[in-house]
Amino acid sequence: MQISVLGAGTMGGGIAYVAAVNGFDVRLYDMDDAAVDAGVARVQRDFDSAVARGRITRDDAQRAQARILTATDVPQAVKNAGVVVEAVVEDMAVKRDLLGRAEAEVADDTVIATNTSALSVTEIMSALQRPERGIGMHFFNPVRAMKLCELVVGLETSDQTIAAAESAAHAMGKETVRVRDVAGFATSRINAVIGNEAFFMLAEGVASAEDIDTAVKLGLNHPMGPLEMADMVGLDVRLAVLNELRRSLGDKYRPAPLMETYVRAGRLGRKVGRGVYDYDADGNRRPH
Ligand SMILES: NC(=O)c1ccc[n+]([C@@H]2O[C@H](COP(=O)([O-])OP(=O)(O)OC[C@H]3O[C@@H](n4cnc5c(N)ncnc54)[C@H](O)[C@@H]3O)[C@@H](O)[C@H]2O)c1
Repeated sequence: MQISVLGAGTMGGGIAYVAAVNGFDVRLYDMDDAAVDAGVARVQRDFDSAVARGRITRDDAQRAQARILTATDVPQAVKNAGVVVEAVVEDMAVKRDLLGRAEAEVADDTVIATNTSALSVTEIMSALQRPERGIGMHFFNPVRAMKLCELVVGLETSDQTIAAAESAAHAMGKETVRVRDVAGFATSRINAVIGNEAFFMLAEGVASAEDIDTAVKLGLNHPMGPLEMADMVGLDVRLAVLNELRRSLGDKYRPAPLMETYVRAGRLGRKVGRGVYDYDADGNRRPH
């Protein structure tokens, strides 16, 4: 079966990689040659690193890579697709326009999926003639390593679409959960709440940032502490998620004032060298 991936950025490249490694024919689309080339280079790095670590043989990598063809033209990209997975910028208008154009070119039973992190799947898929074929397939970064694909079920999504998306995700080596199309789905909502609580605790002086993170890692067995995680995601991104959760689900999601203050101060996390913690130019944490 062919999986057409629309958007060759961080997520699109990662989705193309796992699809190809698991035997799917892949079409990787982006809007111009430069964007496609950047995506192909990213996928190449995934293959090189998998070969270097002995996860895949060079022959298998070459065979998988040969299954990825590229396109800068939507009809060519989605022709023959069993599943279309959209992973372009997080912009409602862009996603609706692109998926509307894709739908015009695909077979009746083709699943049309979006990898949106936070937008309404129901609203994106209302751009389709047949919104029942639309669903969220929310992969995580880095796609090759993260085991989950959260299936986000829109208002009109049919059982047939859910089953087809589930079986494609399983065939791509992912485990799935089914989540209703409610702001924050399951993952982002839980993560935002834990991170927000950590900021309230920091402001209250419950413990130092390091000790809050250590407590959650060693006492609760989370691989990362909530404050280092917020720095990795970006405090501005986290704040936007909380504001959206608050708008949609209520005041329980009010962002911690300390997080807002950090964002106002430009302390956006690892990407700018400073958030809760300080980082060097390589993104490594500086000791206090
Ligand atoms: N990065 C993450 O951790 C993560 C995790 C889960 C979901 N997502 C979601 O995945 C999607 C993609 O995120 P990303 O991090 O890969 O972004 P990215 O910026 O790395 O890639 C986006 C790609 O979209 C392309 N694009 C932009 N406008 C376009 C248009 N009009 N038509 C076609 N292509 C266009 C760009 O050229 C780029 O290659 C977003 O919806 C994001 O919310 C991201």
